[in-house]
Amino acid sequence: MSDVSSPPPAEAARTAVVIPAAGRGVRLGPGAPKALRTLGGVPMLIHAVRAMAASRAVSLVVVVAPPDGAAEVKSLLDTHALPERTDFVVVPGGETRQESVRLGLEALPPEYGIVLVHDAARPLVPVDTVDTVIEAVREGAVAAVPALPLADTVKEVEPAAPGEPEPVLATPERARLRAVQTPQGFARATLVRAHEQITGAVTDDAGMVEQLGEPVVAVAGHEEAFKVTRPLDLVLAEAVLARRRLNDGF
Ligand code: C5P
Repeated sequence: MSDVSSPPPAEAARTAVVIPAAGRGVRLGPGAPKALRTLGGVPMLIHAVRAMAASRAVSLVVVVAPPDGAAEVKSLLDTHALPERTDFVVVPGGETRQESVRLGLEALPPEYGIVLVHDAARPLVPVDTVDTVIEAVREGAVAAVPALPLADTVKEVEPAAPGEPEPVLATPERARLRAVQTPQGFARATLVRAHEQITGAVTDDAGMVEQLGEPVVAVAGHEEAFKVTRPLDLVLAEAVLARRRLNDGF
């Protein structure tokens, strides 16, 4: 008789996505929380959720909403079509991105062995990038991040007061640097352990896994996975959407 207590391999590799969307997005200027700003008439968060749900491997999306906006986010998701195969849940977020991700992880049912963390602020990531990240984790990576080579040379400086010149300390070799995007993919147990054990400021989830001493791999990112941070990014995002509509229409 087969052992019914352990899930079959396909179940163990089920994939969920946590989308932290609880930030205020102050750098975009005053107005609605960033995730609820619209692009092409559709809230950025809905674009981000659809981008994740576009992957056939993703069967659950956990949206971490602004603490006072969970009901609004839930009704937004109810009114915008998602593929039938994708479930979603909404949980209230925390003070920091890290806390918001942890609250999202706590909402995951046990059967999900792979977790992606994706910023709502990256609404236009192509499905191929999502699938590449999932594939890397399915093939055994404990953490995989989409990354791109840099166009600019990067300097390390001694930060000074705004407006003051900053002494340059070092110039890392550009060919070895990558700009890292989301979704970042993880073996769930490793990401949960990172959130339990690592405290202190980090700017991405993979950084916490690195601090555990676990290996992280970089896979191909995409220029359309850029983060909408400043007003000019909204212009670029609208242009990308307009080009997609044109391409879809012909
Ligand atoms: O501020 P930043 O652009 O780095 O935020 C990245 C992502 O983290 C955004 O999608 C934002 O909504 C989310 N976030 C969050 N909870 C916070 C702060 C940011 O979910 N307290």
